Amino acid sequence: MALHDSLGNTLTALLAGEDATALSVGWMIHELAGRPEQLERLRAEVDAALGDDPLWTDPEQRDAFPWLDAVMQETMRLRPVAPIQGMTANEDVELGGRHFPARTNFMMAMRALSLKEEIYPEEQTFRPERWLEARDVHFTQKPPHPFGGGKRTCPGMNLALLEIRSVIAMLVHHFDFQPPPGARPVEERFAFTMRPENLRMQMRLRG
Ligand code: HEM
Repeated sequence: MALHDSLGNTLTALLAGEDATALSVGWMIHELAGRPEQLERLRAEVDAALGDDPLWTDPEQRDAFPWLDAVMQETMRLRPVAPIQGMTANEDVELGGRHFPARTNFMMAMRALSLKEEIYPEEQTFRPERWLEARDVHFTQKPPHPFGGGKRTCPGMNLALLEIRSVIAMLVHHFDFQPPPGARPVEERFAFTMRPENLRMQMRLRG
């Protein structure tokens, strides 16, 4: 691997990877804070799985949080932190009846797929249940894949999923959270990754 490849991958891992994971947690907190019933369901699931343990110490226990996973997948569908993916064709391709020569650069609008009604009925609705109903279909098999696809699939995917699960489980287990009074509306801001602009939360230790 050439030096610039190593540098590029290191930067991607440190900056894009870390950012993408943190922003996904941010979007998830935002979606949950506006949906008290879904938040309480998640809290009940995490409390039951953890019991008296203050920490989630068994990351191998992957199926411990089906509702958490469903909320995470629905958040990634509607708030993808990488909504556009850049690709270069290795060889000539036909797409939509048009010919593109090798080395053509494409900007793929992945979000268009996650809003297709044929794939996701009531596509604009935040409905984590859809992932429980299709529990046999892991979300990585259903388009669009928030971590990309093929040989260049995000190598940090499992780490990111583990991090998001742990952080969200710990947050809901230990804290109540809500936007502070007078908080400005949260907006999507795209700058390489898609971030929740104006996201502010007041956190209080649960009594
Ligand atoms: C929620 C978190 C994350 C999301 C949504 C995400 C998403 C993506 C996407 C869409 C790609 C492009 C894949 C493709 O071209 O098909 C990618 C590539 C990459 N990601 Fe992530 N990523 C996340 C976290 C991470 C983490 C935690 C790391 C490393 C610790 C990481 C390291 C990388 C690297 C090195 C690449 C380039 C792979 C290559 O081009 O061969 N990512 N990621």
